[in-house]
Amino acid sequence: MSISNSFRLGSPDIFPPCERHVYLDAASVGLSHKGGAEAISNWQNALAEEGTIAFDEQAEVECLDNLNDATARLFNATTDDIAVASSETTLMQSLAWAVMPGKGTKVVTTDTTHPSSIYPWKRLCDHTGAEISWARSDATMTIDTDALEAMIDDDTSVVVLSHVEWGTGQLFDLKRFADKAHKHGAILVIDATQSAGQVPIDVAATGADAVATSTYKWLCGPFGTGMMYVSPELQKLNPGILGWRSHKDMWDFQANRLELADNAKRYEFGTMAYGTAYGATESVRHLLDTGFDKIVAHNRKVSNHLIDGLRELGADVLGPKDEADRSATVAARFPGKNSRDFAKTLKDANVIASLRRDFIRFSPHYYNNIDDIDQGLEAIKAAL
Ligand SMILES: Cc1ncc(COP(=O)(O)O)c(C=O)c1O
Repeated sequence: MSISNSFRLGSPDIFPPCERHVYLDAASVGLSHKGGAEAISNWQNALAEEGTIAFDEQAEVECLDNLNDATARLFNATTDDIAVASSETTLMQSLAWAVMPGKGTKVVTTDTTHPSSIYPWKRLCDHTGAEISWARSDATMTIDTDALEAMIDDDTSVVVLSHVEWGTGQLFDLKRFADKAHKHGAILVIDATQSAGQVPIDVAATGADAVATSTYKWLCGPFGTGMMYVSPELQKLNPGILGWRSHKDMWDFQANRLELADNAKRYEFGTMAYGTAYGATESVRHLLDTGFDKIVAHNRKVSNHLIDGLRELGADVLGPKDEADRSATVAARFPGKNSRDFAKTLKDANVIASLRRDFIRFSPHYYNNIDDIDQGLEAIKAAL
């Protein structure tokens, strides 16, 4: 499909800042969906004005339902399979204590994964004596997926992957690793914080056992909301974090009786900044309505243009070379340049990207266009 250089798939009406800045930073914080941001402040204002008149018991039960539904569509799951809390990390931590990999087993992951994907499991391993096995990255921070797959064996209890790596944007094939994990009696647990919103996720087709995400990056939602898919098997476990919302009737209030919800909602546990759930619902619905086939095609075109331009300018682009193993996240080093100084120069030129360790990470999303990339490349050229 040919698109004009000025075409933004996510409209400036919904993402106004995309016309004020060259905003290439979704892997850090995505631009917020305008309707979602409004939903959050509407809820907050109503609460401030009217307390439980505006937000009564029924609303407190139901307020997460729409986000449960939207997330089920996002992951191709059913609503019963989704739990909502305040972040990816809290849900992952609760899951790790539920699964509790035992001594003599290993948790397989990569050395480029995000700390929030693996620290919850490290805490568990410190407790039980299970071990963490690290797939090692090469000089371009790329994980050899054949070597990673070969590490999964009969001693493996859990494979923990970030679907898209935070640094390089390396994209893992969920079905391949779910199949391999299941063959050895292990489960595949996915942190989708860097993938949900930029690539499709299909738990039914891939067999991933758990998928957790926060909402403020590629989902263009707020801080303060996280969602997790858990498979029916994992819905039978005892979550690591429990609270009044974990009870099947949260208004039971009988402290010496705990009947866990018989679906993924047992992983929900307490109050949260509920308004963020209304905001996240808006942005997830917008992504779904836009369609992931279109989002992937658009982001692929824009990020490929960026990669080509960076290479022409002599940058070392990190991560896998094969397009199938990449997402829209693009990391680069500039030989002879200090990335810290370079990041500042880009920011001064209104090109918003992230300095991470010794590289610059660019992460265009569906509200960007080719013109943004050309402007960014011009600024890079001037800085070189
Ligand atoms: C892959 C991944 N997981 C998790 C997080 C952060 O998790 P949380 O929103 O729970 O703090 C990040 C943030 O950069 C991330 O890149």
